[in-house]
Amino acid sequence: MIALPYDHIEGLVSERFLTEHVKLWQGYLAMLRRVDRRLSDPLAGGGSPKLDSPLRLLYEAQSYALNGALLHELYFENLGAEPSNPDPSAALTAAMRRCSDVAGCSMTEQLILAGLVSKSGWAMMSYDFDHGDLRIQSIDSHNDGVSMRNMPLIVLDCWEHAYWGDWGVDREGYLKKALTHLRWNVINRRYDEARQAHNAKLQAYPKP
Ligand SMILES: [Fe+2]
Repeated sequence: MIALPYDHIEGLVSERFLTEHVKLWQGYLAMLRRVDRRLSDPLAGGGSPKLDSPLRLLYEAQSYALNGALLHELYFENLGAEPSNPDPSAALTAAMRRCSDVAGCSMTEQLILAGLVSKSGWAMMSYDFDHGDLRIQSIDSHNDGVSMRNMPLIVLDCWEHAYWGDWGVDREGYLKKALTHLRWNVINRRYDEARQAHNAKLQAYPKP
């Protein structure tokens, strides 16, 4: 379990709603433990695995609970009480600029758009360490729209519980404010880790 380095973020989330949000995250961890216990005896109750076992529901519940816990940890970690500090690294700035040139708007603008079109879910900028590209993802729930082998770099919670108490219906205002509280030192570290994974892949499978 992680310990949050802040108890509220001035102008973004109040102490009361952050406390409730942390309870929700702890609920996903508790749900994951219950699912894992059930999966430790997957054929309990006998019968045909295909027809009678709750395995399919358990595996679906596992991805929901696991992603629900991990996405919250990534989200809490990449926000800080202080305004954004430091800046994106030179390498990440260049990568974000390249992607912006292709899309015609900045990566942070694309991230806000992804957050606005998600249902109850998440907006994420990730690094596809197979292809070496930055990607924007809009995730519904916790497990619908997640791509494999993409390292999360920036994770923003777009479920109503994340902003409704402090921002009402203004999801866009909440997202724009959240972008001013990003911990770029954390995001730069994630990017460096993902690039190492990409370089390892290139060494194992050099491009022809
Ligand atoms: Fe949340």
